[in-house]
Amino acid sequence: MIKHATLEKNSILLTVFVLIVVSIGGIVELAPLFYLESTIEEVEGMRPYTPLELAGRGIYIREGCYNCHSQMIRPLRDEHERYGHYSLAAESMYDHPFQWGSKRTGPDLARIGGRYSDEWHAAHMIDPRAVVPESVMPGYPFLATTALKTDDIADHLTANRMVGVPYTDDMIANAAADLAAQVDRDSDDLDALAERYPKTQVRDFDGNPEMISELDALIAYMQMLGTLVDFSSFKAEGQNLR
Ligand code: HEC
Repeated sequence: MIKHATLEKNSILLTVFVLIVVSIGGIVELAPLFYLESTIEEVEGMRPYTPLELAGRGIYIREGCYNCHSQMIRPLRDEHERYGHYSLAAESMYDHPFQWGSKRTGPDLARIGGRYSDEWHAAHMIDPRAVVPESVMPGYPFLATTALKTDDIADHLTANRMVGVPYTDDMIANAAADLAAQVDRDSDDLDALAERYPKTQVRDFDGNPEMISELDALIAYMQMLGTLVDFSSFKAEGQNLR
């Protein structure tokens, strides 16, 4: 007791001891990061985004969709029942930066893929109130009439590779062709596209085959969200919440 009183009355000594205690905690948390190969448990199905999806993701970020939409389903029962299986770290492993978000003015979008038709998304992006009368989401009608900038798509893949996304030389060399092929069911490049990016959805997303629009890219991105990992196998292992 006496010794502790000395410690409490001597601020420098107290500071030194506080630092020692805190650094033990810090080392325990930080040290494993230096020898663990990965802190993300890999799951089957995750792949880097196709060039078109990546471009769509760029528009999602540019337009600030993350200010109103999260992409992270928490392991809570109400979230699970509304949105589906809770998000896994691996589902964001190719996201730079990740789109978890912290505000939900609108619903979570982590598993929006396949929930609505392309037509619904197109109508909703042009004028949300056309399909959801009480919506407070702003419309983005210009996306449908703005041609997607595609000449720099290979650079986007290269930049993502620099921060760890495993895009191959082959993927980068064919980025522009893959982007065009994803909106064209008659393309000769489709087999190669499917091989490079399994589970890629191919079609004209915005209903206007004349042009690859920003809306094509955004809808392609949203229709992919949450569809890459097959969660039926997770249920078999009893990892779901029900
Ligand atoms: C000011 C906040 C706000 C912004 C910004 C916003 N949204 Fe929304 N969003 C909402 C609200 C509120 C809803 C729910 C009503 C509705 O469906 O329109 C919604 C709904 C949605 C839905 C339907 C979700 C579902 O499960 O029914 C999608 C998809 C969507 N937004 C995509 C986007 C995209 C993509 C962007 C960026 C281009 C965006 N939103 C920007 C507020 C916003």
